[in-house]
Amino acid sequence: MVAKILNGKDIALEIREQIRVEVDKQKKMGNIVPGLAVILVGEDPASQVYVRNKKIACQKAGFNDVSIVLSKTTTQAELLAKIDDLNTDASVHGIIVQLPVPEHINTAEIIERIDSEKDVDGFHPYNMGRLATSLPKLAPCTPHGVMTMLDKTGVTIRGLNAVVVGASNIVGVPMALELLNRRATVTICHSATKDLAKKVSEADIVVVGVGIAEMVKGAWIKEGAIVIDVGINRLENGSLVGDVEFDTAKERASWITPVPGGVGPMTIATLLQNTLQAAYK
Ligand code: GUN
Repeated sequence: MVAKILNGKDIALEIREQIRVEVDKQKKMGNIVPGLAVILVGEDPASQVYVRNKKIACQKAGFNDVSIVLSKTTTQAELLAKIDDLNTDASVHGIIVQLPVPEHINTAEIIERIDSEKDVDGFHPYNMGRLATSLPKLAPCTPHGVMTMLDKTGVTIRGLNAVVVGASNIVGVPMALELLNRRATVTICHSATKDLAKKVSEADIVVVGVGIAEMVKGAWIKEGAIVIDVGINRLENGSLVGDVEFDTAKERASWITPVPGGVGPMTIATLLQNTLQAAYK
């Protein structure tokens, strides 16, 4: 079997256009303009690119965007004070702190300080708890974007075996909860998992988010499985690859996401959806 390509770029553009039209309509009706504040602490080059892309997406959607760039020596107290300001700013409906933050910052405390109604990343324990109790409000963007992509395949998720490789709070854990909420049978694999190849080979849906180039081999993929690759890794020759060995996996999968142009664009489109939801709740 040769897989069909699940093109996140096109799906994301479609969602972004729908949002732009909706914001335009609301503006014409005299309603508020959604506002997103993005905080970047330090100068991590990858984070700078992600933050710039989020800012451009906001502007194209007609949102107000507030970019806050803080030096890498910013203290915990200073960052908390900035969040407090944004929490009480009525023109700001969504707040995100780009991760990772410098090591001296306590990430959990920062995330918990964001007003859960403005937590458009969906990382606050309240929003994670809502997802874990099948009562989602603002759900983490990358996993929720993956669900939007899975729905585009037309495949019924209920009853399928889903294997999530990677157990991060940003991707793996909320991804597993999203799939569980749709009645998939979910296995989460991580660095202590024994015989990963066997686990992956039993999956009807495989979602990989580990940050290791081509770690999941094409030969492990069950014939006809859906393969979702959340990874984006730059090789020494400058090319970008995912966490899945694409060329061999696509010979076995029914659907597969490319890297780049797969899951990546869906994260931003879902962030805009969450911000729209937070603004017009
Ligand atoms: N770093 C990597 N992915 C994300 C994300 O979705 N949100 C934030 N805030 N930081 C990230």
